[in-house]
Amino acid sequence: MERTFLMVKPDAVQRGLMGDIVSRFEKKGLKLIAMRFMLIPKAKAEEHYGEHKGKKFYDPLISYITSGPVLAMVWEGEDAVSVCRNMMGKTNPKESAPGTVRGDYGMQTGRNIIHGSDSPASAEREISIFFEPEDIVVYARTADQWVYE
Ligand code: RTP
Ligand code: MG
Repeated sequence: MERTFLMVKPDAVQRGLMGDIVSRFEKKGLKLIAMRFMLIPKAKAEEHYGEHKGKKFYDPLISYITSGPVLAMVWEGEDAVSVCRNMMGKTNPKESAPGTVRGDYGMQTGRNIIHGSDSPASAEREISIFFEPEDIVVYARTADQWVYE
């Protein structure tokens, strides 16, 4: 099983989209194993988006992601990273397919609703920025036998 880090960004929180977004991943069959509603301290935002430091969108990105509360989550499932990236849609919501989170709710790259890890290594790094090991909830989900053969 693979883990991924997802985050409902401040625009989507303010627009009342948290429930719908969580619901999509739940219904898909992914398993929620950690969740935290929080304001991201600037230093944590800079660590999270460190790969983009120096790019022209970096400062607006840090302002955006620290502008209000976010919902940080860890989801588990078979190929969770790529499954979730597909469900999120392309970075630019104008190019995201209908049916994806960004395709259904977003209009601009700078207000693109959701973050998701882009590889298992990124997931591991990002999870450790937002969660302590004891925050991960280990449990058996009885429905798993109906999700996986
Ligand atoms: P994310 O990391 O947030 O899941 O998004 P992503 O992988 O699809 O895109 P990435 O290239 O990692 O960019 C991170 C976030 O920076 C903002 N961005 N703005 N104005 C721009 O050209 C631009 N490019 C990227 C977006 O909020 C993007 O999600
Ligand atoms: Mg990214």
